[in-house]
Amino acid sequence: MCGIVGFTGKDQAVPFLLQGLQALEYRGYDSAGVEVLSPDGELHGVKCSGRVATLAERCRTANLVGTTGIAHTRWATHGAPTDRNAHPHLDCSGRIAIVHNGIIENFQELRAYLARTGHTLASDTDSECIAHLVEDAWAGPAKGDLVEAVRNACQRLQGSWGLAVVCADAPGEVVVARKGSPLVVASTPDGAYAASDVTPLAPVTSHVITLDDDQYARLLPDGSVTVYDADGAVVDHPGTLDIDWDASAATLGGYPDFMAKEIAEQPEAIERLLKNRLGEHGIELDELSMTDADLAAIDRIYMVACGTSYHVGLIARAIVEEWAKVPVVCEFASELNYKEPLVTPHTLCVIITQSGETADTLTAARRMRGMGCKVFAITNVLGSTAARESDGTMYVQAGPEICVCSTKAYTAQMVAAVLLALRLAYANGSMRLEEVQQHYRNLCTLPDLIREVLKRSWQDQQAAKLFRNAQSSLFLGRGVNSTTAAEGALKLKEISYLHAEAYAAGEMKHGPIALLEPGFPVVAIVPADHVHDKTVSNIQEVIARGATCIAVATDGDEEVAKLCQNVLWIPEVPEEDFVPIVAIVHLQTLARYVARSRGCDVDKPRNLAKSVTVE
Ligand code: M6R
Repeated sequence: MCGIVGFTGKDQAVPFLLQGLQALEYRGYDSAGVEVLSPDGELHGVKCSGRVATLAERCRTANLVGTTGIAHTRWATHGAPTDRNAHPHLDCSGRIAIVHNGIIENFQELRAYLARTGHTLASDTDSECIAHLVEDAWAGPAKGDLVEAVRNACQRLQGSWGLAVVCADAPGEVVVARKGSPLVVASTPDGAYAASDVTPLAPVTSHVITLDDDQYARLLPDGSVTVYDADGAVVDHPGTLDIDWDASAATLGGYPDFMAKEIAEQPEAIERLLKNRLGEHGIELDELSMTDADLAAIDRIYMVACGTSYHVGLIARAIVEEWAKVPVVCEFASELNYKEPLVTPHTLCVIITQSGETADTLTAARRMRGMGCKVFAITNVLGSTAARESDGTMYVQAGPEICVCSTKAYTAQMVAAVLLALRLAYANGSMRLEEVQQHYRNLCTLPDLIREVLKRSWQDQQAAKLFRNAQSSLFLGRGVNSTTAAEGALKLKEISYLHAEAYAAGEMKHGPIALLEPGFPVVAIVPADHVHDKTVSNIQEVIARGATCIAVATDGDEEVAKLCQNVLWIPEVPEEDFVPIVAIVHLQTLARYVARSRGCDVDKPRNLAKSVTVE
């Protein structure tokens, strides 16, 4: 949700802090702030509503000097996105500053207590309480030890936090704490770093320390990092993680926006994921950490996810049921959390989450685990909570996805789910090795098919013009492509703020058809598949009402070409079930063109954050 960074070392802190915030800005961009400990022994900071670029501008005039500091980019939960609610927050003395990612659930009680005991709170946030609790602890039981003061304060908190704290009376120290919100730290010869995830750290190190819940760390200017447990004892061997992301992966690299870059990166991402996956015994998926016998015993699967990742689950459900003959329940994590799932001793829970930090998904996974399920995570972010808490993790290796709207992670997650389906189907005897091999060969054609679609982006650009005067739109598809329609509609809504409704094409006549009028844009996914003719009939119904139909169709489809004003052509895909992985590329690109034509910031859509770490 929010992004935090911290630095202490030899160099000035502000350049890294701002660069770190830029890398984390996808986590929230309502407001931003920075605080450094200056050579005069005081804390000095700048904070404001708006983007990191605005903060950077203010920092230039404020001329903040200091080699120890913390910074924050916010996605507002408690308190409007105003200057005074921006982090960092200070204690009453102005000598302690904190930045926080998470939610303090007992903040009302804490604010009342702090007000009663003479503290003056300057914001409407839940986070500010932490600065005042650290203030109390610093002056009292912590006896001038900042880790102790933070630990003491955290003992009074309920909720979740990734926290970084500086204190003018503990020069050079940055203390961080984690519970429920991600945090990584790094020790380098030039100094010590902290961040909400590895993205800001990739340019400075390839090795990070991952904090567990209820752990603390003291960062010192010589680059040393000491990790402490909940009782304040030193942790000798904290978790570590090697980052194999190239630092340039998180930069624009010549593209106008991250969405464009990430759409273009899909072929390579899928190639990486597919590399060396076929072995003598079918698909190699050691990440599952399950034997063939364990896999063969699975009698039910829960696919659990949110948003775009949920759409992956829907498509995975169809493929797993078809190939592995195992019943699959696909649930929004936020719904499953309030239901009683039907779990057997052999139920597998698959969580799908790009960020690995989505609170609803993590809660569902913990609950399913508590019921005795093995949990397998399909995720993109290295060392994410989903990866750390699951019995097995498959990294989709799409590289950092910075644009808030998910594109390359979506297609990579679908390929990962297909690999899982193949592994299961072979293990439980539903599929022969030769069939597995054939499906794998077909999967390997996808990167080139996507490359071909990318070359046709001019078709999407043309089609985007048809949305110029639209107030709403309808996306239709059948079978697995009803999910392609849902994902296409989500992309459009999310970045262009244009309403889009997705429907199973055959259901249109039961209601949504009433929306149609001349010029109303309808996107119909109508590939060459077993329901092609049925979908063509639905297109006829659309056209008969004067609506504008934009079809996604397979090369050579004369019938669709004659019917529709605009066609987004896809090359022939060797398996019907793989069409969603190719067709969605047109819809991602279409959404981007529509959004740009409406002047929207495609990478940072309003009100959204990349990882939704609150339930
Ligand atoms: O990181 P996750 O995959 O768990 O995120 C789930 C959703 O928040 C996410 O897919 C969201 O819907 C995207 N903004 C869609 O583009």
